[in-house]
Amino acid sequence: MRIGVRKVGKSRGSYYSALKRITRVANSAISLRRICNAIAKSTAKAMQANGCRILSLNSQKEYLITVGTHGLSDLYLKKGPLAAHKSLPDILEGKAVFIADAATDERVQHPQMALAQGISSILGVPVLGKGHAIGEIRIYTREPRQFSEADKSFLFSVANICAVVFERAELHQLLEQDYKPSEKRRKSPQVPPVRTTLRPTTFAHPSEEDFAKLLDFYCIEWLYEPRSFPLRWKGGRIAEMFTPDFYLPELDLYIELTTLKQNLLTEKNRKRRRLKELYPEVNIKLLNKNDFLKLLAKYGYGPLGTAKVEGIDRVLYSHAQIQRRVRTLARRISRDYAGQRLMLVGVLKGVVCFMADLMQQLSLPVTLDFMAISYYGGEDQVVKITRDVDSSITGQHVMMVEDIVDTGMTLNYILGHLSAHNPASLRVCTLLDKRARRLIDVPLDYVGFEIPDEFVVGYGLDYKGEYRNLPFIGILHPELIKGNAPR
Ligand code: IMP
Repeated sequence: MRIGVRKVGKSRGSYYSALKRITRVANSAISLRRICNAIAKSTAKAMQANGCRILSLNSQKEYLITVGTHGLSDLYLKKGPLAAHKSLPDILEGKAVFIADAATDERVQHPQMALAQGISSILGVPVLGKGHAIGEIRIYTREPRQFSEADKSFLFSVANICAVVFERAELHQLLEQDYKPSEKRRKSPQVPPVRTTLRPTTFAHPSEEDFAKLLDFYCIEWLYEPRSFPLRWKGGRIAEMFTPDFYLPELDLYIELTTLKQNLLTEKNRKRRRLKELYPEVNIKLLNKNDFLKLLAKYGYGPLGTAKVEGIDRVLYSHAQIQRRVRTLARRISRDYAGQRLMLVGVLKGVVCFMADLMQQLSLPVTLDFMAISYYGGEDQVVKITRDVDSSITGQHVMMVEDIVDTGMTLNYILGHLSAHNPASLRVCTLLDKRARRLIDVPLDYVGFEIPDEFVVGYGLDYKGEYRNLPFIGILHPELIKGNAPR
């Protein structure tokens, strides 16, 4: 609950001394990251804000990479790469953006994280280079805050200094690329600069794409082949290079996948050793084929992922895809019910995974209840509620949460039962909608995925009590279902 909005006045004098400090650090000889961290710190302090983040736009204008921060936790920074077109796109169009309440403003890409971090207000301005956005600077406050014209004008000045810092770093990088190493330099080479082409549209090998998806799933920022390390020189020219597949900036770690041919492993190990000799400060890990496949299998990806789960024909939605969709649904629900309490009701047992993930993503006060019913094929002759909700739903806003709606008969029966208790409102959120088999036209307000007419298992859904624990949704091998009822 937010109470009131604070106005923080800042004298011209203190902004002036902050700008003096910032220009001094911008013109110092330390690395780009250290310069940006120092600028972020001075800016946050001068504006009496709790955090500051400086972001650089990659050359294809797809992603924003953090290049300097102050006052934000690792958790917030690791919340995943910021897609340029989604994350406050107005800033990149040259405008200042003000967010009064980050938890409810739909322009915020990760509102849950902002909430967990205690962030209320955000002010962001573009870093402009030759008239185009090349990055951003954002200020975060814990208390709700209104920013004055003086605050905005100060932040725009800092952004201009950042633009000069970025462009100088780029120029430095270009000069380094032209540079041919001298005899002395060859003995102790410099770590080559990071390229700014970070997210390719195509990867050299499908396993790299799978690995990138996995990193995205864990919200770990990554760059693809950002650096080439010279390993050997001949007559002043580079004779051998090594370009690791991935760099994880937050962990300062390079990863090389050795999934193509095992006989390349020895060669790659030799290169890794040479790299460690020449550049001892560089952290690099090789991931061999088996470890990599096992890692993917855990999440339902790759050949082992399906082969290991007997009876699964193919993966329909990976864990990462499900999580992304659940987040989107939760955001819509939080927006639609803003300022209200919501009671979530689920029918056991298929809904457990979806319910657990959905409720954690809702930024609303929620209560939870479960029902259970007897199914066709069991001992009962007619459908029966074997467990009713514990609490009264009269006058409450109720959301019926379903794993899957197939013929619609179960949901129709339950909605009839619940609406007889006069809730203030009654809506339905289902993860899966098997619309092709619908017999009763039940209203669905929030749908995760519309799926084909196949029997699916995993992520809570079962076949004869099994498969509920799979972290992905897979299609059951049709031969396994020999005319049996779903449950
Ligand atoms: P209905 O046909 O809409 O009444 O579906 C009722 C229930 O059948 C759902 O809540 C699921 O538990 C189950 N069900 C329907 N289709 C599937 C499926 O593809 N996989 C697993 N369970 C299913």
